[in-house]
Amino acid sequence: MKYILGIETTAHTFGVAVLDFGGNIFSNVRDMYTTEKGGMIPMEVRKHHAKVAPKLFEDALKEAGILEDKLEAIAFSNAPGLAPCLLEGMAFAKSLSEKLNIPLIKVNHCVAHLEIGTSVGATDPVMLYASGANTQIIAYEAGKYRVFGETLDLGVGNFIDTFARYAGLGFPGGPKIQKLAEECKNKDSLIPLSYSIKGMDVSFSGIQTQLKNLLDKGEDIKDLSYSLQEVIFAMLVEAAERALAHTGKKELLLGGGVACNSRLQEMCKIMCSERGVKYFCPPRPLLVDNAGMIGYLGLKMYKAGIFEKDLLKVDIAPRERTDDVSVTWK
Ligand code: ATP
Ligand code: FE2
Repeated sequence: MKYILGIETTAHTFGVAVLDFGGNIFSNVRDMYTTEKGGMIPMEVRKHHAKVAPKLFEDALKEAGILEDKLEAIAFSNAPGLAPCLLEGMAFAKSLSEKLNIPLIKVNHCVAHLEIGTSVGATDPVMLYASGANTQIIAYEAGKYRVFGETLDLGVGNFIDTFARYAGLGFPGGPKIQKLAEECKNKDSLIPLSYSIKGMDVSFSGIQTQLKNLLDKGEDIKDLSYSLQEVIFAMLVEAAERALAHTGKKELLLGGGVACNSRLQEMCKIMCSERGVKYFCPPRPLLVDNAGMIGYLGLKMYKAGIFEKDLLKVDIAPRERTDDVSVTWK
């Protein structure tokens, strides 16, 4: 049997996955850089990745029950992301590629978040990609994944994390804010926050300022968390619904770490059932940053002949956008 290795390394998470050539994920291990206080310092994250990489590789092989000589190719996320993190991942991928004499596949992380949706049955969806750094409404049209709408300032996850950090909750803040929102006792009185959507684009910076001011004035953190979620998720759902109406597509796919949020999932499900649109959401290990999705798209690319044997031609592309990538593997 043939196997492919996936490596994720664009930001806080280093991940390694082993897949067979049918796209079955046999292992998908990860280690995320976290802090109790403060945010991510890219050079510190790089050190974290360098430290955990060899052990994660070993764990991924062990969990899949294979030896490294069974690997046929290595897919790694070379774009987009934090340069120090991408460089560390690339160094690891290249040294393995040399050692095992197998080719590399350069995978765009954002496109991988999209393509993993096909593993849960989506065929031609509008995608709501809601992660830390990214917030986009994407759909496939004429050879590329087109961005129909996006955030004009912060990514939704970074927005939540920034507020959580300000409130002293540590990183990542998304799950903590979700928990506080669930504990809110005033769910019938929403704190007014400026709902900001233009066409299919959204903006969060005004709400960030409002939230910080309200917190400083002593507003309850649970009430703020609840209102924050209700307002910003409503913006995302509205943008996604508009894209469904515009494109005429009949599927919605969620992706990115913020899509783990059960309230966002619930709001999306309601919108889909009202519109008669199919709802898809991969399981949590495939929603957050992970190497399984990198291997999954890497395999499609490999089968289509998109790989590189000359390591000098392999580099990182920290700023590559979703719609820069020509989708030639479909
Ligand atoms: P990308 O590079 O694709 O932008 P990323 O590096 O931000 O991804 P992801 O793992 O996709 O990483 O997403 C991480 C984000 O998801 C963090 O901002 C985190 O707070 C958020 N998140 C995780 N769980 C939840 C949740 N339950 N509710 C809200 N946000 C969440
Ligand atoms: Fe991501």
